[in-house]
Amino acid sequence: MAIQHYKVLHDYVRANETVADEYDDVELTLLEGELPADLKGVLFRNGNGRFAHQGVWYDHLFDGDGMISRFAFDGQRVRYRNRYVRTREFLEEEKAGRMLHRSFGTNLPGGLLKNAFRMQFKNAANTSVVWHGGHMMAMWEGGLPHRIDPVTLDTIDRYDYNGVLRNQFSWLDSRIAPELPFSAHPKIHPDTGVLHNFGTVAGTKQRLVLYEVDPQGKAKIGPVIEMDDMTFSHDFVVTQSGHRILFLTPVSFDMPRALLGLTSPAASIKVDRTKPTLILVIDPDGTIHRLTTDFCFVFHFVNGYQNTDGKLIVDGLMLDFFPASDLMKAYLQGNVADDGTGARFTRYVLDLETKQVTHRPLADYEGELPEIHPDLVGKPYKYAWGIGRPISHSRPLADQLVKIDVTTGQGIHAGPDETLPSEPIVVPRPGATAEDDAWLLYLLFDDTTHTTDLLVADAADLTTIARLRLPHNIPLGFHGMWLPEGEV
Ligand SMILES: [Fe+2]
Repeated sequence: MAIQHYKVLHDYVRANETVADEYDDVELTLLEGELPADLKGVLFRNGNGRFAHQGVWYDHLFDGDGMISRFAFDGQRVRYRNRYVRTREFLEEEKAGRMLHRSFGTNLPGGLLKNAFRMQFKNAANTSVVWHGGHMMAMWEGGLPHRIDPVTLDTIDRYDYNGVLRNQFSWLDSRIAPELPFSAHPKIHPDTGVLHNFGTVAGTKQRLVLYEVDPQGKAKIGPVIEMDDMTFSHDFVVTQSGHRILFLTPVSFDMPRALLGLTSPAASIKVDRTKPTLILVIDPDGTIHRLTTDFCFVFHFVNGYQNTDGKLIVDGLMLDFFPASDLMKAYLQGNVADDGTGARFTRYVLDLETKQVTHRPLADYEGELPEIHPDLVGKPYKYAWGIGRPISHSRPLADQLVKIDVTTGQGIHAGPDETLPSEPIVVPRPGATAEDDAWLLYLLFDDTTHTTDLLVADAADLTTIARLRLPHNIPLGFHGMWLPEGEV
């Protein structure tokens, strides 16, 4: 099949320009509509503030320094603040005026001499922002979270949960990876308030480590699963029934190449499409089930729950290939292939008794950065929102806001030409009973004006309720969260 490549020079590349300014509490200009009087609280978003450092472009979408943006809604106006996360590496590189640290997907300029045997990577702190146990944290899956002051956005510290995230598997392990990775996609159990998370750590053995943090913020290590290979997982599922579910795509890092500095770790990933994807299910009592499904890769899961018949339902955005790092680099440069292989909304049904796994498309939509009603994590649900496009869409970008009814497969989408939306955060209206009686809060990059706007949309039909302009263009970022008034 001939693959058509598009050079999307403007809207994609310009949306990713470096942020040079940090603002303090500026009021956003209302462009259209009216802010809902009962929309009160704070939206936080995290993402790359820049895709280049001192003129050197990163090779990977995930390597830019994390920047938190904060939007405080009081029912009449929105006040905006943004701050780069002051990681140790960020401060050192700012002081030096050049790139000092290898990143997950980017080697340092200077070849082997600069990269060989450097296996401590920059903590980009750029992926998500989470509120739990009295802490707000900027998350990055390869290392420790950073605690952030939710009002000032000052960076408080690199947080190891009082030593729990210090590698104590062995002396050698602690030398190879002193800090245990804590993924950027923790899930908070809807009934217990326990934050569940995982990390994959290299060392004398390859380990998948599960974590639990109680509502007061006390962390402990849960089951540790030894793996044959160092795999890569970005997200996982926690159900109300207490099942934790991970998809492990048959990829492995070429550690010698990465260690010698021949490639970045991301570029060293080898894919074996002849193997199935392993699905790990960890029961509430710690029992581990291993199931398999056709080769696939899932960056983000939509949701998962245990059905009344005992089977586990897992909805995710399924790719039938693994996105290689050169694809990420091409994206950063505005090269997007329209080969019909975007991530599809897909439902997996897992039968732990028979070890059977079935899957089917949920809708004729591709999507990414999915969100659901915040009270339905781990439970049966009806709606998913995200960015995406109908599979028949004329442009290769996920440039539409989408809403999918996962029970019927029906979807709707909205998005003006020459714009790109961010992940939409779902904020239920106070007192709402319907699942989609909510607001969607998202950013929209408009290439015609080269501006970034904050939008409030109706979650039911995706229509715009209010649109406000930021004082500068910021990249759309990865993941955010909403804290209702009074939480901080
Ligand atoms: Fe993510």
